Parts: sequence; C-alpha cells; structure tokens
Amino acid sequence: MSTIRTVKVDGEARYDISIGPNLLGDSALFAHALRGRHALIVSDDNVAPLYADRVEATLRAARPAMEIACFVIPAGEQEKTLARFCQALDALAALGATRDAAVIALGGGVVGDLAGFAAACWMRGIDVVQVPTTLLAMVDSSVGGKTAVDLPAGKNLVGSFHAPRAVIADTTSLRTLPERELRAGLAEVVKYGAIFDAEFLTWLETQAQALLTGDDAALSEAIARSCHYKAEVVTRDPYEHGERALLNFGHTFGHAIEAEQGYSGSGRDAMNHGEAVAVGMVMAARLSAALGRAPSSDTQRLQALLQRLGLPTVVPAGLDPEALLARMRLDKKADAAGLRFVLWERAGQAKVVSGVPDGRVLDVLRGR
Ligand code: NAD
Ligand code: GLY
Repeated sequence: MSTIRTVKVDGEARYDISIGPNLLGDSALFAHALRGRHALIVSDDNVAPLYADRVEATLRAARPAMEIACFVIPAGEQEKTLARFCQALDALAALGATRDAAVIALGGGVVGDLAGFAAACWMRGIDVVQVPTTLLAMVDSSVGGKTAVDLPAGKNLVGSFHAPRAVIADTTSLRTLPERELRAGLAEVVKYGAIFDAEFLTWLETQAQALLTGDDAALSEAIARSCHYKAEVVTRDPYEHGERALLNFGHTFGHAIEAEQGYSGSGRDAMNHGEAVAVGMVMAARLSAALGRAPSSDTQRLQALLQRLGLPTVVPAGLDPEALLARMRLDKKADAAGLRFVLWERAGQAKVVSGVPDGRVLDVLRGR
C-alpha cells in the first residue's frame, strides 16, 4: 500500500501536494515535476548539508542529463531579502537556466518564499517545486503560491503569486527539525481549526502530546488535513480577493511583532513566525471578544491549546503597543479605510472585519 497521501490543488493552477516518508529519494515523483534540463536547488545552510546531496542524486536519477546547481543562503528570516533574491537570480544566470528550468526550494518557509519569488521573476516565470522541510512550510507556506522577501519597513512587502508545479513534503525530514520549529509549525496547524473547523481543534487537543513528540501518524494526519483546508481555499481564491484572507488569522499582530523584533527569527530573544502567529491568534481572539463578536471562553480554549503545544500566547515584554500599531498600518492587510483584522465569531468561524478602532487594538496589546 502506498504511504503517499496526495492533496490536489485545483483551479487556475493545478498541482499535487505529495505527503509521505522518504519522498526526497522518490525520483519518479521529481521526474513528474521536471520539464527542462536545468535545476537550481535553493536551500539554507542548515538544510543543505542534511538533504541537498540526496535531492541532487534524486534529480540525477530522474533526469541523468540534467544540469544542476545549488544556491545556499544562511538560515533565518533576516536572510529573506532583496539582496539574497538577486543572488538567486545570479545563480540562475550562472547555470544558464532556460525558460523550462526549475527551481527546487528545499527548506522552510524562508527558502520557499525567496526561491519561489526568484522563480516567479526569472525570465518572467519558471517552475518552482516546493520541497518543504519544516512543519510550517509543509502545512502552509509551500502551498498556494505566495512568494516574497522582506524589507526593513515590513514583512513580505515585495513578492508575487507564483504557484508551484508540485509540492513534495517528505515527513521523514521533520526528524531533524529542532523542537522549537516543530512547535512553530503547530501554530499554523491550529490556525486551520480556529478559522475553519472547531472539530479539528478538538482533534488537536487529543493529539497534542503525540504531535509534540513527533509521532509520524499524528503529524501526517495533521499535515494532510491542513493542506486539505488550504488547498480548498486557494483553489477558490488564489489571489486573495476574498476568503483566502481568513488564512491571515493572527498574522496582522504576528507580522507586527516580527517586524518590531527586526526579523531575528529563531534567535534566543526573538519570536519566529509561528510563535508570533500563536500570539497574534490569541490577540485576534481577544479583540473579537472585546468587540462583543465572540465568547471569551473560545479565547481561553485557544490559549490553552497553544500553551499545551508549548507556544507563547502573550506579546513579548518590551514591545511598545504604539510601535506595533504603526507596523500594522503598513501591513498588507491594512487598506485606505484603516486597519482590517481577521476576527472570529466562534472557534471554527472567522471573518474579515474593517474599521476596527485603534483604541481597541491598543487595549488588547496592553493586555486590558
Ligand atoms: P525557516 O525557513 O526559517 O526554517 C526554520 C529553521 O529550521 C531554519 O533555521 C531552518 O534552517 C531550519 N530547518 C528547516 N528544515 C529543517 C530540517 N528538516 N531539519 C533541521 N533544520 C531545519 O522558517 P519557517 O517557519 O519554515 O518559515 C517561516 C517563513 O515562512 C516566514 O518567512 C513566513 O513569512 C513564511 N510564510 C510564508 C507563507 C506563504 O504562504 N508563502 C505562509 C506562512 C509563512
Ligand atoms: N499564509 C497565508 C496564505 O497563504 O494566504
């Protein structure tokens, strides 16, 4: 029996998300995703030493005549920059990549976003195969085609939509993932339950321990269900004209925290993306309750689950609420009419709400 689970993304861009053990060595799966003679593996200096050789060997087995190069960036959110993006384009130029070339994004969301953006721009768009190696990238960033780099002014401010040709998620690669990064990915998993399906939250409550200890069956189920929710949304709304915005639950607060901390990522004193989203989801739930839109018992439930998963749920000490609010105004989720938030009406049912008064947001940030 095949252990590969396949989730299909439909609509304008059609591709498969393949989830299973040992897929980095599956040459048939990679062969199916390749069209031309050139492949650039983009990775970071934690992931490349672990997995780049294996992926290169698999590509060679899939296409013996393939010209393959590897471009490796230092790990971390602070490297998701225009400067690294330009270097990725230089690597494509050095490879002589033609329009049928493929970028293989091997790593977490930082690599996926940067490599995807380089693929989107090289010769006005070549294939990218997303090969996520973090839980967060498997359940979120590798799916749906959002690509970007950060500017000092804000997160993901330069980018484009560029759907992958395939997503290949090798669950075995999660065994080397630091525990903190596993927990960060669980924040995005919780997000799907929070916005779409309260029953999934109940399942996560029962599976918290199994997920934290890296249980293969629990993780595979969480990844497949998360990809299923995301695939449904991006199939219907690939360019975020409507319901896709719900996936940003917790992100307006979370991005502001990340930007205020200078994108120091998994540095000891700074939050990574998943941690910031965990805090942001609790802030969004509290804002919903403060506006009389949702019961506070649901906030407590969300907070308890995130805490069980070892995730932070309060704004880090020392961050100025006014400065966070200023960051939110520059977020892509703000518009000319003011701040927009994804709020919830109850667990499992989210909604975009415009015109939220600044004072209410500040109260929540101040813990009132
Ligand atoms: P990341 O890419 O920084 O990876 C986290 C850390 O884990 C890094 O140090 C990395 O080197 C290491 N790592 C990755 N895989 C490993 C493995 N298998 N074994 C050992 N170490 C490994 O962070 P992330 O949490 O994967 O992604 C966060 C980024 O994703 C942010 O930039 C965020 O904006 C972006 N994102 C994008 C989307 C989207 O739709 N495009 C959605 C969510 C998040
Ligand atoms: N992570 C939000 C989105 O893909 O739309």
